[in-house]
Amino acid sequence: MSTSSSDTHTLRLRVVVARREAESITSYEFAHPDGAALPAWEPGAHVDVHLPSGTIRQYSLCGDPADTSRYRIAVLELPAGRGGSVEVHRELRPGRLIEIGRPRSNFALAEADRYVFVAGGIGITPMLPMIREVQRRGRTWELVYGARTAEHFAFVSELDPSALQLVPQDTHGHLDLESVVASSSGAAVYCCGPTPLMDALVERMSQAGRAGDLHLERFAAAAPAVESSGEFEVELARSEKVVAVRPDQTVLEAVRDAGIDHPSSCEMGICGSCEVKVLGGDIDHRDDLLTESERAQCNSMMICVSRARGDRLVLDL
Ligand code: FES
Repeated sequence: MSTSSSDTHTLRLRVVVARREAESITSYEFAHPDGAALPAWEPGAHVDVHLPSGTIRQYSLCGDPADTSRYRIAVLELPAGRGGSVEVHRELRPGRLIEIGRPRSNFALAEADRYVFVAGGIGITPMLPMIREVQRRGRTWELVYGARTAEHFAFVSELDPSALQLVPQDTHGHLDLESVVASSSGAAVYCCGPTPLMDALVERMSQAGRAGDLHLERFAAAAPAVESSGEFEVELARSEKVVAVRPDQTVLEAVRDAGIDHPSSCEMGICGSCEVKVLGGDIDHRDDLLTESERAQCNSMMICVSRARGDRLVLDL
């Protein structure tokens, strides 16, 4: 039985559960309308959710990878955000059919004897299946979890309380990252949460000479806005076109203006769907996906955010 919709990259699934998990956080479970098994996924995977308005948003899968009957995501409602989370909360009611992208991973679980997970707010979601997997492997773990108030902690009842350290910001302040660094010696450290939290942990782990032990899941791009660099040209080798990229434009927008239909999803440099092979030129990488060594190779770029360092780039488009 096929689980595909008209687009082979997506699945047409039914919302089967919508459950309030914490203040402003609702979880959603999706299942195939015919009861078919869903494609497998690994802890750390995320899916694109195609909202009725046409907006596409990425959410980490936070259910059990062993349960192929359903996917679960959880969404924090952000009334001041870009609109996706509000639409999710308004539109995703049980019974509704929704296009969901096939799971993709960019946050794989490394081998380690011990794990320390650091979650800020809705950053708890990718940690849940990772913790489940770590338990399955018989490894020890602890979770340091910060949220605005006690009412903002989600999924706590699913976790071993003896491994949990909950830090409500209104009564206990920010997470004590110095003690996270000190107490995580020899452990793999995984962090997901607001950019300032992750940046602060990167700095402290680097100062301690342990940058290699830290693994981050960024759900909001840390890249600077595009207005800060000037105009440059992009040569599209296969299309035999040269397009100008204005300072207020992304490469993706310029490419589309030239009549080339190129895929994208997050348009924040965090999903990888717009990645393009680069044949020439110096890249100003602004994504949150490529590693330092991948950047140094200059083989590809995310054209939704990354730009040229010089006057011209040559793309395999
Ligand atoms: S569209 Fe997601 S990285 Fe470019």
